[in-house]
Amino acid sequence: MKYKIPVAEPDIGENELRNVIEAVKSGWVSSKGPFIEEFEERFSSYLGVKCGIATSNGTLALHLALAALDIGHKDEVLVPALTFASVANAVLYTGAKPVFVDSHPNYWCIDPCKLEKKITKRTKAIITVHLYGNPCSMNSIMKIAEDYDLCVVEDCAEAHGAEYEDSKVGTFGNVACFSFYGNKIITTGEGGMCLTNDEDLANKLRVLRDHGMDTKKRYWHEVIGFNYRITNLQAALGVAQLERIDQFIEKKRKNAKIYDSHLRNVQGVVLHPEMPWATNVYWLYSILIDSESYGINRDELMNKLAKNCIETRRFFYPMHFMPPYKKYAVNCRFPVAERLSSNGINLPSSVRLTEREIHKIAQFIMLARKSN
Ligand SMILES: Cc1ncc(COP(=O)(O)O)c(C=O)c1O
Repeated sequence: MKYKIPVAEPDIGENELRNVIEAVKSGWVSSKGPFIEEFEERFSSYLGVKCGIATSNGTLALHLALAALDIGHKDEVLVPALTFASVANAVLYTGAKPVFVDSHPNYWCIDPCKLEKKITKRTKAIITVHLYGNPCSMNSIMKIAEDYDLCVVEDCAEAHGAEYEDSKVGTFGNVACFSFYGNKIITTGEGGMCLTNDEDLANKLRVLRDHGMDTKKRYWHEVIGFNYRITNLQAALGVAQLERIDQFIEKKRKNAKIYDSHLRNVQGVVLHPEMPWATNVYWLYSILIDSESYGINRDELMNKLAKNCIETRRFFYPMHFMPPYKKYAVNCRFPVAERLSSNGINLPSSVRLTEREIHKIAQFIMLARKSN
C-alpha cells in the first residue's frame, strides 16, 4: 500500500543534489574523495568529538567498534532486550555473546538498575541504545562501566543530536556509532560513523575499516580487517544533510509537541517520554496503547490508521522472542521490554509532516478509542 502519510521520509534538497553531482563528475565515486574527510570532520565537530570514522552503514559501525575494542570469543556484551536486531548481530559477528537487559518503564531504554545483575567475569562491554531518539541514563551507565571496567559503545543510530543533561549523546562512551540510513535524522542513503576521542582507537578503527591495511605502507596487512568504507557519493549527500541537522531536530521536536498537545488527554495513550535530564530528538514519535483503558489494542489501532493511509510501525520485537537470539536468554524474562513491544507504535515523524497532518492523525487516534 502506498501511504499518504509515511512514518519517515528523507528531505533531500538542492545542496544534496549539487554535492552528489559534483562527486559523480569528479570521478571520485568510491571510498576516496574529499567529501569523506569533510563529512567525518564536520560530523565529529558537530558532536564535539575528536575523531570520526565513516562506515558503509550503522550495523558495520557497531561491528567495527566492537572489533577495535578487541571484543571476541568468550566475551559477553550487555545489550538492550528491546532494540533493532543489528545491535545483537554486531555482537554475534565478533563471536561474543549478547546478554539482554530489560528496558526502563519510564523512558524505554536499557535499565541501569538491571545491568549490574547481568555482569559476569566475561562481560567486556555495554551497548547503550538511545531508543527512538530518547537518551539513556548515561551517568548511571558510565558509573557501572567504571566500577566493573567495561567499555561503553553508544548506539546513536536513532538519536543524532539528542542530549543527556547538557552533553550530546555519543560523547560519553569509548565509541559512539551512528547510522545514516534513509529514515534517520540525516541520511547518506546507507552509511554510518564511529566517533571517538581516543586517537589510538581511531587509528585502529581506520585500519580495520580498510582491510586491515597499514596506513603508511600500502598493501601491508598486520591484521585481518574488513571493507567497511563509505563512498564519496554517500559522504557528499551527508555533508549537505549536515548543514540542516539542527533544523531537522527542531522540526522533530516541534512535531512531538504538537502530538503531545493533541494526545495528552486521550485515555489509554501514553506519550513519548522526555525525562528531565534529556533532550529527546523524537526520531520516531512513539506512543503506547493501554488497551484496557483505550478500548482497542495497538494492532487494531494500526489497522485503522492504515485504512486511512497513515503508516505506522509496531515497536521492535523483544530480542529473546526471535529464533536466532532465544538461546542467549534461556529462562530469562524481560517484562518491561515485552510490554513496550506489544503496546508501542511509531507514528509518522517525517520532517516534512505538516501541522494539519499531525492534527489529522491525532483526530483518528482520538476517534478510534472505544469508550466503555
Ligand atoms: C538502534 C539501531 N542500531 C543500529 C542500526 C543499524 O543501522 P544501519 O541500518 O545503518 O545498518 C539501526 C538501524 O536502523 C538502529 O535502529
